[in-house]
Amino acid sequence: MKRSMKPGTMLYPLPAVLVTGGDMEHSTVMTAAWTGIVNSDPPMTYVSIRPERYSYGIIRERGEFVINLTTADMAKDVDYAGCVSGKKQDKFEKLGFVKEPGEIVKAPMIAQCPVNLECRVTEVKELGSHTMFLAEIVRVHADEKLFDANDRICLEKAGLLAYIHGGYLPLGTRKLGTFGYSVMKPKTQKKKAAESRKMSLMKKKSKHSAPKKKESVFTGKSRLVSKD
Ligand SMILES: Cc1cc2nc3c(=O)[nH]c(=O)nc-3n(C[C@H](O)[C@H](O)[C@H](O)COP(=O)(O)O)c2cc1C
Repeated sequence: MKRSMKPGTMLYPLPAVLVTGGDMEHSTVMTAAWTGIVNSDPPMTYVSIRPERYSYGIIRERGEFVINLTTADMAKDVDYAGCVSGKKQDKFEKLGFVKEPGEIVKAPMIAQCPVNLECRVTEVKELGSHTMFLAEIVRVHADEKLFDANDRICLEKAGLLAYIHGGYLPLGTRKLGTFGYSVMKPKTQKKKAAESRKMSLMKKKSKHSAPKKKESVFTGKSRLVSKD
């Protein structure tokens, strides 16, 4: 039996992302859960922001922003960026968020976030409590560590953060399947499993024979730079 409830925003899980606006000198950062994908080609997203937010005016004026995906170990900082306004405090400084320049938009990317989406606003829609900024994703940046030997991005490795009705939850790394697995022919399934076994074996081998790993450090400009 189900309980019938009054209408509400009961669509979860959602990501709790950090939205950045402005430029490298004068930047804003706020947490947003009212975000998602609305089109594949061109890739399009949205973020809905209340007009009273400090970020609102800057994003509306500039017509661009960056969506920075967050990880479970950033949960407390994500919450803070969603409770305190940039009107009162420089949240970048307070939270130690390192700014990185994007390639297309002026809004900074947050180095600590594993994935950054540069977005350009295409439409502004006042909906009521929130204003929706519909935007095209014009560039994507992802941490090197997320790519496998075949240059495929494995987002499940990122330890992303989910927001579920007021709570922050870590997303697990155990994959239940991949797109289309329910309709995949047994022959293709076997072939894929053999491929992935071969790849992990190759990885293990290269790990043993590889020279000592280089240390990685953060720099102001690029995400992770090798230090010899
Ligand atoms: C998990 C979480 C999700 C949030 N999602 C949104 C959102 O989608 N839209 C919005 O306008 N505010 C959202 N907020 C509130 C803003 O992040 C918050 O008011 C923030 O302090 C605004 O920062 P600013 O004034 O520096 O722009 C959220 C807060 C939290 C903690």
